[in-house]
Amino acid sequence: MENNIMAIVMAAGKGTRMKSKKSKLVQKIYGKEIVKRAVENAEKAGVKDIVAVVGYMKEEVMAVLGKEVKYAYQEEMLGTGHAVMQAREFLKGKKGKVLVLNGDVPILRPETLNKLLEKSIENKEYATLLTAIYDNPTGYGRIVRDEGGNIEAIVEEKDTTPEQKEIKEINAGIYCFDIEELLLALDKIKPNNAQGEYYLTDVIQIMNEKGLKTGAVIVEDNTEILGINDRIQLEMLTKVLQMRINTEHMKNGVTIEDVNTTYIYDDVKIGMDTVIHPNTTIKSGVQIGEDCEIGPNAYIREGCKLANKVKIGSFVEIKKAIIGEGTKVPHLSYMGDCEIGEKCNIGCGTITCNYDGLHKSKTIIGNHSFVGSNVNLVAPVTLGDETFVAAGSTITDDVPAYALAIARQRQTNKEDWNKK
Ligand code: UD1
Ligand code: MG
Repeated sequence: MENNIMAIVMAAGKGTRMKSKKSKLVQKIYGKEIVKRAVENAEKAGVKDIVAVVGYMKEEVMAVLGKEVKYAYQEEMLGTGHAVMQAREFLKGKKGKVLVLNGDVPILRPETLNKLLEKSIENKEYATLLTAIYDNPTGYGRIVRDEGGNIEAIVEEKDTTPEQKEIKEINAGIYCFDIEELLLALDKIKPNNAQGEYYLTDVIQIMNEKGLKTGAVIVEDNTEILGINDRIQLEMLTKVLQMRINTEHMKNGVTIEDVNTTYIYDDVKIGMDTVIHPNTTIKSGVQIGEDCEIGPNAYIREGCKLANKVKIGSFVEIKKAIIGEGTKVPHLSYMGDCEIGEKCNIGCGTITCNYDGLHKSKTIIGNHSFVGSNVNLVAPVTLGDETFVAAGSTITDDVPAYALAIARQRQTNKEDWNKK
């Protein structure tokens, strides 16, 4: 039988501390729902077979996760062990490994999940836990090890002895289990503890009693395993993600003048020697070439693709803009739904009028064109190569290549008018 690698994401929890009309799991962190990130982390680790255990506001959670995952339902919140029991049908008859993840832990690195998987396979462990060393372990399950360093049990805060309370190694709530042995262990979990819950963590002791090998991976970066319960943690983890992404770009050769005010969302590509000035936001999926200059105060929205040597200056917002090499949009512009060729200059205050209240329309500008200051380009409209648009024009008709377009009222000077 083939060896499966599956994941179960526990996403049935309520999360009252968020003070929201929505489930906390569908709150967005850095542009993406918390639970969506949790699932994507498993996907990025190469896991294709994912089961989400949903309960509280399940329609909302399912609307976010869509058809990429399978669903198990937990009607009553009877503990983490009970949550995983609900996914039993998906595990039955299978061999291999299953990762168990918390739906409210969004910034776990896929590399960490792979480490967990690799260790469990190489060391033939039936349960491998992710643990962390915390100065203040309050609230977490403690990892109890014997003299040999083997894990004996996980003891929940409420069930700890005074000595166990001092233990600094905590359970992150992220596991890799052998599928068959997990199923057998789940049958043995009993809710005889301080909270009257079915603890998933009891699986460790159950496996130990059976003589099955268990182990742990200690996470290197403690921020990875943080969960989100309220808006304060939401902001904290947003900062962590922001710094993590900015650092990655800097390592790849991008200059970021101020990491604190630069917001680069997921899956953005930026070429070498591009400089990002302060107060710049770059949305998910944007592609920026080499030697570009972006900002300060620029807003690069979804669907933008910038070639090399493009300049996007201050107070410029662009959306779905495909911009050719060497083109400049230096100040105070909105360029949306447009294709701009190479070496164009888009004057200060130029605006694409891309929306008529019903539809979005496109603006196309050929190579080597010059658009004067304060021009409105009423889409759909096409400017050919090497066109020149006079400042202050409102362009509603296409402009053929090499033409000068002027679309504004002629100036009249009334002599001596102001002497009266
Ligand atoms: C759990 C661990 C604890 C660990 C901590 C790490 C147990 C018994 N304890 O504690 O050792 O240190 O995580 O954060 O597992 N959930 C359900 N259904 C339930 C209960 C929980 O779906 O019936 C989900 C929650 O939505 C959440 C996750 O499981 O995503 C963890 O639940 P939570 O209550 O936060 O676990 P803790 O008791 O904090
Ligand atoms: Mg709890």
